[in-house]
Amino acid sequence: MILDLANMSNLERQHYLQHSIAPRPVCFASTIDKDGNINLSPFSFFNLFSINPPIVIFSPSRRLRDNTTKHTLQNVHEVPEVVINIVDYDMIHQTSLASCEYPKGINEFIKAGFTQEPATLVRPPMVKESKVKMECRVIEIKPLGQEAGAGNLVLCEIMRMHVDESILDKNNKIDQRKLHHIARLGGDWYCVVNEKNIFMVEKPNTQLGIGVDALPEHIRNSKVLSGNDLGKLANVQSVPDIDPSFQDDKVKNIFQYYSINPEEMENELHVYAKELLDKNLVKEAWQVLLNF
Ligand SMILES: Cc1cc2nc3c(=O)[nH]c(=O)nc-3n(C[C@H](O)[C@H](O)[C@H](O)COP(=O)(O)O)c2cc1C
Repeated sequence: MILDLANMSNLERQHYLQHSIAPRPVCFASTIDKDGNINLSPFSFFNLFSINPPIVIFSPSRRLRDNTTKHTLQNVHEVPEVVINIVDYDMIHQTSLASCEYPKGINEFIKAGFTQEPATLVRPPMVKESKVKMECRVIEIKPLGQEAGAGNLVLCEIMRMHVDESILDKNNKIDQRKLHHIARLGGDWYCVVNEKNIFMVEKPNTQLGIGVDALPEHIRNSKVLSGNDLGKLANVQSVPDIDPSFQDDKVKNIFQYYSINPEEMENELHVYAKELLDKNLVKEAWQVLLNF
């Protein structure tokens, strides 16, 4: 299916874009208007864009329904300060409640049952329950259009962070396994980060991987190995040499059993290499594949 964005309704665009560009982290923005009224709203059009200077951007859109602007946007125009509170699994239902369209002047801290904690550099309060809070000054607000659905980029410079000790490791670094972020997908779908569904991918770092194009042909064109498997194999600096000390009973058995049928032998070796790659035993997988 091919979709031309220009010919679609806003609701269709929203569907295809928000289901595709996902998961999106959720920023819980605390703002204040010039009269001191506090507002708290979640935004998933949000991300980190710079380390130095430390910049995050979130985007309160013009409402699709009636093209009005959100209180958060009005507030940052009046008082260019915001606390960005990171939302985790413990907070998701209250956070969702805070996204109700309460009238201007209604404090969503109170409606959603969160605790206001005074910030140290800016006027809007922090969400006490959030495990990471960032005190920010708004450096620019960039409207992306005037029609319903148009975003407004709020560029925020982070001046100070508050990190809950419960998510730190013994070196005072954030332990990714302890911060159970939630993220927004399309429609009503969300996902959560926890130990069961996160994994590590080793960085190629300074060494250049040989690349999939430089893999031996029988590996590159394997009917068994997936794109991920090829990616792992091609992350070596050069095609490894056969290691004569590599002894493996399973490889021996495959050789014995399939000696009369080279095609099946290759298939079995690739299946075994794949099992090893699934366990991140890349060196061993290479030796199995080089044996053919
Ligand atoms: C998880 C979540 C993410 C959201 N992300 C956005 C967003 O990125 N942009 C937006 O305009 N509205 C977003 N919304 C809807 C706003 O939170 C909602 O319109 C809110 O009531 C705006 O409040 P305000 O008018 O007090 O600023 C999101 C809602 C939820 C629950």
